[in-house]
Amino acid sequence: MESEQLEAVVMDIVAGIRDAIIKHHVTVDQYRFAVDYLGRLADARELPLLLDVFLNVAAVDAENEVTKGSPQAIQGPYYREDAPAVTDRLKTLDHDNERPLVVRGQVRDIDGSVLPGAEVDIWHSTPTGKYSGFHDNIPVDYYRGKLTSDSEGAYRVATTAPVPYQIPNQGYTGALLEAMGRHSWRPAHVHFKVRKPGFKTVTTQVYFEGGQWVDSDCCSGVRDDLVRRTTQEDGVDTLTVDFVLDRAA
Ligand code: DHB
Ligand code: FE
Repeated sequence: MESEQLEAVVMDIVAGIRDAIIKHHVTVDQYRFAVDYLGRLADARELPLLLDVFLNVAAVDAENEVTKGSPQAIQGPYYREDAPAVTDRLKTLDHDNERPLVVRGQVRDIDGSVLPGAEVDIWHSTPTGKYSGFHDNIPVDYYRGKLTSDSEGAYRVATTAPVPYQIPNQGYTGALLEAMGRHSWRPAHVHFKVRKPGFKTVTTQVYFEGGQWVDSDCCSGVRDDLVRRTTQEDGVDTLTVDFVLDRAA
């Protein structure tokens, strides 16, 4: 970042916080409490979590303003580059409340031509709201995988439906949300990273119309153009997500 842009960004952030302090008559004691709280939060290595909850979406939307491709969304902390290549099914664990879900769609460029050979990397929560490779020792090759779009630009994979996810809420970030009277839930979602050499990568998430917390995501990551209604195809809930890739800069 150039020093002029850096100065402008930092001073706008400072101005926003100063305005909030004055507008809400924050006392010096409350200010000191906040400084101490942020120090303890940083010591507990929760600064990334706190910043992502409140600010990641803004950086993504700043990019959305200048891209002609599909809308992007926050990546979240649970992406794994080493997810396996898959063809038609993500590995899932047997579970009582497992609900089959098919995820399918088509990849095109901004002129509408189909894009074969694009990598469609998909990951989502288990039926208990955990992420493989991070939680409960679930191996990294479950609930995630890299597909390749076919000659028609199409991809299709069978899996199980994700459920709402509760961000780590036992620490300082959770304590703040609770003190604010907010919850720490994200609506059920499927993550995507779609790549093809020569094109801008689309990193995004899709939410389910009518799903719990869609209207109050704790990370403010839901946009109308990221919410989909599933259809029934051969008796299976099917989530259709098409992608448009912008050309690389
Ligand atoms: C977080 C978790 C997610 O699954 C996600 O998509 C975004 C953010 C989090 O824990 O902050
Ligand atoms: Fe997620």
